[in-house]
Amino acid sequence: MLKDKTIIVGVSGGIAAYKVADLVSRLRKQEARIHVIMTEAAKQFITPITMSTLSGNPVLDDMFSNQGIVNHIDLALKADAMVVAPATANIIGKMAHGIADDFLSTTVLAMRCPIILAPAMNDRMYLNSVVQENLALLQRRGFVIVQPESGALACGTEGPGRLAPVEQILKVLWTSLQRQQDLKGKKVLVTAGGTREPLDPVRFLGNRSSGKMGFAVAKVAAERGAEVVLVHANTHLPLPPQVRAVPVTTAEEMYHAVIKEFSDCDVVVKAAAVADFRPKMHAEKLKKQGNQLTITLEPTVDILAQLGRKKKKQVLVGFAAETNDLLANARDKIEKKNLDLIVANDVSRPDIGFASDDNQVTFLYPDGRHEPLGKMTKEAVAQEILDRVVHILNNKLSTENEE
Ligand code: PMT
Repeated sequence: MLKDKTIIVGVSGGIAAYKVADLVSRLRKQEARIHVIMTEAAKQFITPITMSTLSGNPVLDDMFSNQGIVNHIDLALKADAMVVAPATANIIGKMAHGIADDFLSTTVLAMRCPIILAPAMNDRMYLNSVVQENLALLQRRGFVIVQPESGALACGTEGPGRLAPVEQILKVLWTSLQRQQDLKGKKVLVTAGGTREPLDPVRFLGNRSSGKMGFAVAKVAAERGAEVVLVHANTHLPLPPQVRAVPVTTAEEMYHAVIKEFSDCDVVVKAAAVADFRPKMHAEKLKKQGNQLTITLEPTVDILAQLGRKKKKQVLVGFAAETNDLLANARDKIEKKNLDLIVANDVSRPDIGFASDDNQVTFLYPDGRHEPLGKMTKEAVAQEILDRVVHILNNKLSTENEE
């Protein structure tokens, strides 16, 4: 997996820097091409000679003396992934706010490949809200954070702040590399947002979907090489790059937009909150008459159930937005809609589900398995969904080859 990959290892100044020698050594054993960048503070903890010997390349540490040999842009262009370990509060702060004042921070700004951060520091510093906010900001921008462990720290205290084990950092690096371009050649259709069903010229029935979950799936699918069509209803989010967007308003419009794209799709992820019922549209604004208004609703088309009936090669992923009996209700939907995977989320919680940046989901499969995940950003949930999708696509392919 790592053979001939170019991995940039950024080392900043913390006592855990010595553990990164082991990381570099293991990367070299796996025949990766390694370039180590050290900050001035890092050199107080471990010598550049150790790192250059283990990596097989000179350590990069000076913006100016290295010029002509290798510069930060060259490095960013050839990198397949970057690991910053240990990531101190200082480098985390610089990365979060675009400060580029040394070789490491300048290189980070030029990178377009996955960047994995392994923070390590004193527990009081790590738990400081400014560090936590900077980490959350970086995570939202797509940086992958390998959380530090809790335990005895070099400064004599106990708490979270120990560098994650090298095996874990390597595992995260491996997953990040594996995700690159694994959807190349696939067409992925994503729906996002909430439909609005008009009642009269000024009113509608709608829901609280912001579109964040679906947009995250579209963004990540495009980054992983897919051709992405994003059918979105009533969102105010910036469109992810490299995505073809189709705006719609109602469930009916979403149905037509989805059906038009469906036949040559490989994957459909239906994160949109679609109205199950719509009112009869009144041509004129409804007037206040008496103390009661009765609205008659008729069912909308169940788009996903229709796709479930039509599907041939497509991997169909639905969401289940539930306020009670999460697993039982989701299980019912996976069967009724003929899905390959359903992503169940509890929309009664204010910290996940509708409009928040985070989500906590359980995956359910047609064979009865279910897989609960921890709370994470919607982008991280999107990565997890697409990991499962790639797995299902590969299984379908190998079954076809056997037949
Ligand atoms: O947009 P955010 O603010 O980020 O919030 C994310 C979310 C909570 C909207 C998202 O995570 C989510 O749960 N989306 C599904 C919402 C929903 O409509 O769930 P449902 O359980 O009612 O529907 C089940 C599935 O059928 C969904 O995939 C839905 O898109 C689909 N459906 C439903 C009704 C319908 N008429 N047609 C459909 O295709």
